Amino acid sequence: MGDHMLGVAMNGVTGRMGYRQHLTRSILAIREAGGVRLPDGSRIIPEPVLVGRSEHKLREIAERHGIERWSTDLDSVLSDDDVKIYFDSQITHAREAAVRAAIAAGKHIYVEKPTASTLSAALELAKLARDAGVRSGVVQDKLFLPGLLKLRRLVESGFFGQILSVRGEFGYWVFEGDWQPAQRPSWNYRAEEGGGMVLDMFPHWHYILEHLFGPVRAVTAKVATHIPRRWDENGEPYEATADDSAYGIFELDGGVIAQINSSWNVRVARDELVEFQVDGTHGSAVAGLRSCRAQHRSATPKAVWNPDLEDPGRYRDQWEPVPDNTEFPNGFRAQWENFLRHVVLDTPFPHDLISGARGLQMAEAGLQSARTGRTIELDEVTLA
Ligand SMILES: NC(=O)c1ccc[n+]([C@@H]2O[C@H](COP(=O)([O-])OP(=O)(O)OC[C@H]3O[C@@H](n4cnc5c(N)ncnc54)[C@H](O)[C@@H]3O)[C@@H](O)[C@H]2O)c1
Repeated sequence: MGDHMLGVAMNGVTGRMGYRQHLTRSILAIREAGGVRLPDGSRIIPEPVLVGRSEHKLREIAERHGIERWSTDLDSVLSDDDVKIYFDSQITHAREAAVRAAIAAGKHIYVEKPTASTLSAALELAKLARDAGVRSGVVQDKLFLPGLLKLRRLVESGFFGQILSVRGEFGYWVFEGDWQPAQRPSWNYRAEEGGGMVLDMFPHWHYILEHLFGPVRAVTAKVATHIPRRWDENGEPYEATADDSAYGIFELDGGVIAQINSSWNVRVARDELVEFQVDGTHGSAVAGLRSCRAQHRSATPKAVWNPDLEDPGRYRDQWEPVPDNTEFPNGFRAQWENFLRHVVLDTPFPHDLISGARGLQMAEAGLQSARTGRTIELDEVTLA
């Protein structure tokens, strides 16, 4: 009943997601907890090997956290037999080449979304992973958030009756970078570097819709670059070439209509930075990152339209919080633990590279819809 020591090459740990969510809150947190315990009592202990472009940044992170191994040479890390998993949270454009090399070296693959810059590249990676017999996964962290886990509980309990529609509001004001520094990287606003709201957020919306409500069949979207000039990390002005807002309508199996607004140019008048309202014949709910509140048909007030009178309805007060009933670990960590179990025990892991490719398919369809003004149907994604 020996423990499973798994070397994990982590490329992109100097970035926001790679450092905060994947290295410190997931891999190092799992190690501090003694690993992932398996049913036979053994443990999976991930052993990070940091990979990146900047020697001094990697050394600094490694020293800060007492990590022994780091390298700027991906090929040499991939040639190490103790490294079983390749993880990639680089800027999206850099992902494909590195993942190809990792698959060729026989590593299991776990990557940030989007899995590649284009649908055809994403499908190619999924095919290469399948043919090489390695396991693959894509980060779909929002599914593991407390608010969405509570929403899932409502869906699975039949609370909604027939689900009719989903409305999502996502976004906040990202400073332009001149009089206050921007709080997101400048590549996010440059199409030529893989930036853009659709490419960034539609993959998230896709897996949320697919996993909670069913397959997405058609997309209609409008995009905009509302703020065409921004200032980068060095205070230099640049032209924002990517879409910074997207307004999408998604048609799901069973006639469910989802509408999601995504914008870096809105000021927040919600309880959370993202909220989804689900309306069904028997009940409705509003879920955010952490909270979820619901209103059953039996508790639905009879709203009457009369602008001549002060409205006595205190609508926000008429919702019941859905209780936690359990503890919710960090979503990225929860998914890492599932992926590590999947690698060692082959437990089910639905967040594979094909699921990631479907996310890109929806992003590309969204951009195509915005370009053409048409609704784009989504064909079944299959690997040749
Ligand atoms: N799951 C989520 O919620 C979530 C949230 C934000 C970003 N992401 C994804 O994570 C990935 C990284 O995003 P981030 O916000 O951490 O970005 P970031 O700019 O903070 O980090 C990018 C990382 O890529 C590396 N890199 C490699 N080649 C590069 C190049 N040519 N130019 C710039 N950086 C390069 C950087 O060194 C750095 O480690 C993206 O694919 C993004 O879509 C996911």
